[in-house]
Amino acid sequence: MEKIPIAVLASGRGSNFQAILDAIDKGECAAEVKVFITDNPEAKAIERAKGKNIPVEIIDKKAIKNRELFDLEIKKKLDEYKVGLVVLAGYMRIIKSKDLLDAYKYKIINIHPSLLPAFKGTTNAQHDAFDYGCKISGLTIHFVTDDVDGGPIIHQKCVDISGCTSGDGVAARIIRFEHESYPMVVDSFAKGKYEVHGKRVVFIPRKP
Ligand code: GRF
Repeated sequence: MEKIPIAVLASGRGSNFQAILDAIDKGECAAEVKVFITDNPEAKAIERAKGKNIPVEIIDKKAIKNRELFDLEIKKKLDEYKVGLVVLAGYMRIIKSKDLLDAYKYKIINIHPSLLPAFKGTTNAQHDAFDYGCKISGLTIHFVTDDVDGGPIIHQKCVDISGCTSGDGVAARIIRFEHESYPMVVDSFAKGKYEVHGKRVVFIPRKP
């Protein structure tokens, strides 16, 4: 099975990144992480990349204040490492550059800890679901477009949060399913292609 060359972008602890690395090691995710990119020099995820000898590119948000220029630096790195899929895994910046979005159209994916379009664009979707009194929430993996958290949906998973007693409890319950779902979706990119018909995403498996 040919492996898809990916870039992973994360700003923080990187547990989803780790789940992808673990699935690759177990032969459950046909991907090769060509580069890890972060906007945060303090990100815990950097250590995860270094532990696997994956090149780390730190594009410091404090050094490049202009959003367009910042995104163009990201694009340069993606081009340089020749990636076929860009995986946002807790990457805390909105991609604003049309050049970057156009160049990697339907090649950038994100994971969001709610059933979109509920609790869109928030940094605290799990707490918002708890405060709203939701009994069910979940996760969404979607293509990234200029519509924040509104790109075509690739995969969703419902999670029963009725027994949770706090927003942190909701986050802890959902993250387990994120760790299952994200590597599985990345793997599917190596096994076929996703076509986007309007807002609907259809998976076409590769012929054997
Ligand atoms: C996850 O909950 C993900 O859905 C959201 O940010 C969080 C990142 O967690 N986009 P981690 O850095 O992967 O542990």
